Amino acid sequence: MNRAGLLDGKVGMVTGAAQGLGEAIADLAAREGSRVVIADVRDELGEAVARRIGSEALYVHCDVSDGAQVEAAVNAAVQRFGRLDWLCNNAVGGAGGFAALVDIDEASWQRTVDVCMKGVFLGMKYAIPAMLAGGGGAIVNITTSGLFKGEAMLGAYVAAKGGVHALTMAAASEYAARGVRVNSVAPAGMETRAIQRYFEKFPEFRDKTIATHAMRRLGRPEEVAEPVVWLASDRASFVTGACLVCDGGNLVNSHLL
Ligand SMILES: NC(=O)c1ccc[n+]([C@@H]2O[C@H](COP(=O)([O-])OP(=O)(O)OC[C@H]3O[C@@H](n4cnc5c(N)ncnc54)[C@H](O)[C@@H]3O)[C@@H](O)[C@H]2O)c1
Repeated sequence: MNRAGLLDGKVGMVTGAAQGLGEAIADLAAREGSRVVIADVRDELGEAVARRIGSEALYVHCDVSDGAQVEAAVNAAVQRFGRLDWLCNNAVGGAGGFAALVDIDEASWQRTVDVCMKGVFLGMKYAIPAMLAGGGGAIVNITTSGLFKGEAMLGAYVAAKGGVHALTMAAASEYAARGVRVNSVAPAGMETRAIQRYFEKFPEFRDKTIATHAMRRLGRPEEVAEPVVWLASDRASFVTGACLVCDGGNLVNSHLL
């Protein structure tokens, strides 16, 4: 028996979808019947993802920290596909370096906050009017389960993600009655190229990182894409303002086991 796709007939946009988790979200959304806009700054990679997905995908160059570019990406989605039903704010940037709080320089603090937090604000600011014009929609913001415990050496990143957590609830409250749901998904360590590169640089951190997950493994991008796509779909019609922790037990991990 053929089952209907979770996102049949819908149009969505995923920021930071040229690789990693965003790519997996765009892939799964397309398999579940959505047309999808891939918004990123890595044009070659992003265009390749859109080509692979096919005519139901569109790549748009979009630096999420720049309001004019975010507005243009939303307009491109509406122009090409006629509407915007869902948005996943997933892009991450500026958070590359590990540094103790007193060693974080102001420029990297600012860039991290601009991409990871302001970028989510801008995504919602420009997507919500397009969703309201179509009768409603759903937003899923990607945070990290690390925001609930702080993360040593990642102060700027985790502060920005904490801001996104609060902003998700504020937006959920403001737009629930008008049919826009806003939720977040909080992953921990995932097998992406980014984390592989990090382990190549710091091989001693691989086992330590795995051990912080109660499941004693990292996640696969598609394992996080599943709840994102569900939250974006009408199957999550009564869910708003929620944070779905999807972290292999990183948050609940115990030092006793
Ligand atoms: N990978 C993990 O272990 C992990 C853990 C917890 C949370 N997360 C979160 O998951 C999300 C995806 O992470 P990932 O590991 O797939 O990252 P990644 O580095 O593999 O991909 C991030 C994407 O964002 C794009 N990007 C960077 N700056 C941008 C900008 N200014 N505008 C638009 N796009 C931009 C990059 O080009 C890239 O394609 C992020 O929000 C991240 O914080 C990841």
